[in-house]
Amino acid sequence: MNNLKGKTILVTGASSGIGKEVALVISKFGGNLIITGRNSEKLSQTFEQLNGENHSLEVLDLLNRKELENFCDSLPYLDGVVHCAGITSHKPAKFIKERHIQEVMEINFNIPVELTSLLLRKNKISKNASLVFLSSIATSFPYFGGSLYMASKSALISYAKALALELASEGIRSNCISPGFVKTPMYDQTMEVASEQTLRNMEIIHPLGFGMPQDVAGPICFLLSDQARWITGTNIPLGVIV
Ligand SMILES: NC(=O)c1ccc[n+]([C@@H]2O[C@H](COP(=O)([O-])OP(=O)(O)OC[C@H]3O[C@@H](n4cnc5c(N)ncnc54)[C@H](OP(=O)(O)O)[C@@H]3O)[C@@H](O)[C@H]2O)c1
Repeated sequence: MNNLKGKTILVTGASSGIGKEVALVISKFGGNLIITGRNSEKLSQTFEQLNGENHSLEVLDLLNRKELENFCDSLPYLDGVVHCAGITSHKPAKFIKERHIQEVMEINFNIPVELTSLLLRKNKISKNASLVFLSSIATSFPYFGGSLYMASKSALISYAKALALELASEGIRSNCISPGFVKTPMYDQTMEVASEQTLRNMEIIHPLGFGMPQDVAGPICFLLSDQARWITGTNIPLGVIV
C-alpha cells in the first residue's frame, strides 16, 4: 500500500473527475492536500470528502496569472504536485483559429509549465518531491478533430522529460501519466460529439474497457510515493497497449 503520510501535495483540477479522485485517494494514504478548482461548490464537495484534517482548498482560475502568483506565494513546501486541470478539444484542422490554439494550450500546457516555474522560483518544491503531469493516450492514438488536444498533451510529455533532467540533482522527479478513456465529465463531453466510428475505434484499443477515475488515482499515488523514487522522465500509459 502506498504511504503518503506527512507529504504535502497540491492537486489542480480537484473539483472534478480524475483530480477529485486523486485527492480523495491521497487523503486516504495520509497525505496533506491543497486542492484547487474553479467551481467552488464542486471543490467544496471534494474537500468535505477528504480523510483527515490537514487540508486546504483554493478556488482559483489558473488562467488568472495574478491570482496564480499570489496562490503560489501562500503555499507551504510541497512534496508533490499533480497537474490534473485541463480541457478537451474537438476541432477539425481546417476550422482551427488562433483563439482555439490559445484556449487549449493555455490550460493544458502553459499553466502546468508556468506553475512549475513559479513553484521552483519561489522555492516551494521540496527535495525528493514528485511532479505528475496528466497527458493522454490520444498522443499515440489520434482521433478525428483531436489535433489541438493531442499537440498540447504531447508537448507536456516532452516538457516533463526535460524537467526530469533539470531537477534530478535535487532528487525531484517529473513524470507523465497518460490515461485512455476515463469516465469523467470530460468523457461525457467527448461522448456528446464523438461519432460511432470514433467510439468503436476507442473501444478496440482498450482491452480492459474504459477506465474509472480510481484506475488513474492509484498509479498517480504510486508516482507520488517513495516507492517510485527511481522513476523519472517517463510517461506511463494506462488502459491501452502501446
Ligand atoms: N477523462 C479522460 O478520458 C482523460 C483521458 C486522458 C487524460 N485526461 C486528462 O486528465 C485531466 C483531468 O481530466 P478529467 O477527465 O478529470 O476532466 P474533468 O472532469 O473535466 O475535470 C477537469 C478539471 O480541470 C479544471 N479546470 C479546467 N480549466 C481550469 C482553469 N482555467 N482553472 C482551474 N481549473 C480548471 C476543472 O475545474 P472546474 O470544474 O472547477 O471548472 C476540473 O476540475 C485532464 O488534464 C485531461 O486532459 C483525461
